[in-house]
Amino acid sequence: MITLTSVAKSYSSEVAIGPVDLTIPAGGITALVGPNGAGKSTLLTMIGRLLAMDEGAIEVAGLDIATTPSKDLAKIVSILRQENHFVARLTVRQLVGFGRFPYSRGRLTLGDEEIVSRSIDFLGMGELEGRYLDELSGGQRQRAYVAMVLAQDTDCLLLDEPLNNLDMQHSVQMMHHLRRAATELGRTIVIVLHDVNFASHYADRICAIKDGRIVHVGLPEEIMRGDVLTEIFDTPVDVVDGPRGRLAVYY
Ligand SMILES: Nc1ncnc2c1ncn2[C@@H]1O[C@H](COP(=O)(O)OP(=O)(O)O)[C@@H](O)[C@H]1O
Ligand SMILES: [Mg+2]
Repeated sequence: MITLTSVAKSYSSEVAIGPVDLTIPAGGITALVGPNGAGKSTLLTMIGRLLAMDEGAIEVAGLDIATTPSKDLAKIVSILRQENHFVARLTVRQLVGFGRFPYSRGRLTLGDEEIVSRSIDFLGMGELEGRYLDELSGGQRQRAYVAMVLAQDTDCLLLDEPLNNLDMQHSVQMMHHLRRAATELGRTIVIVLHDVNFASHYADRICAIKDGRIVHVGLPEEIMRGDVLTEIFDTPVDVVDGPRGRLAVYY
């Protein structure tokens, strides 16, 4: 479970996020949606403790992130940031191996290597594992970063727009993989999604953020309504019943 209590961050006198109170239950997929600049990445990076909050408290799996040592936190929560991915001269396998750092401190055991292989296979990157990151397409690189986060083997995964750069096939595959990680492995996944239709189909609950505040939290069917989405995104959105659930139409 992840709990945010009165969490606030101001970047400047004009840009303030929060205060936010939110409880994300353990297990399942929680999708964060909302317009550009709403504060989704800010909240996610504060949960992952890569950004300090100004006020409030965050607990992950019962641990107060303000006081938990990094080496312990890194075994409980992993994060894929939206940007700032480093593209060093690393192979896919070397990158994914970094996910094991909290356990092995850089000297991978056989067990670590096995988890690295499994994570690479999970993302269908087996044939690319020897490639350097700068020899990959944007989508392939994105999958390699997700494999690294999976290799960290944490109960909570925070993923900021992991479908960026991915084509239809790989977006669907990635969401299938994450769905399995949540259902079969009991992981708690918090994911920022740009496309509300992916949130509708794959998430267990949707949390909508606008102007630094949480404006709706609920089941996909509660958020996937024309009036609700129109208000969240400030643009006309229709919701139709599709063959596999509700779909937002907004063009
Ligand atoms: N490092 C920063 N310095 C100043 N303002 C920032 C910084 N990062 C984000 N912001 C501002 O904070 C707001 C929320 O940004 P962000 O959390 O990235 O939104 P989202 O992920 O929902 O698009 C935006 O107005 C953005 O311009
Ligand atoms: Mg963002």
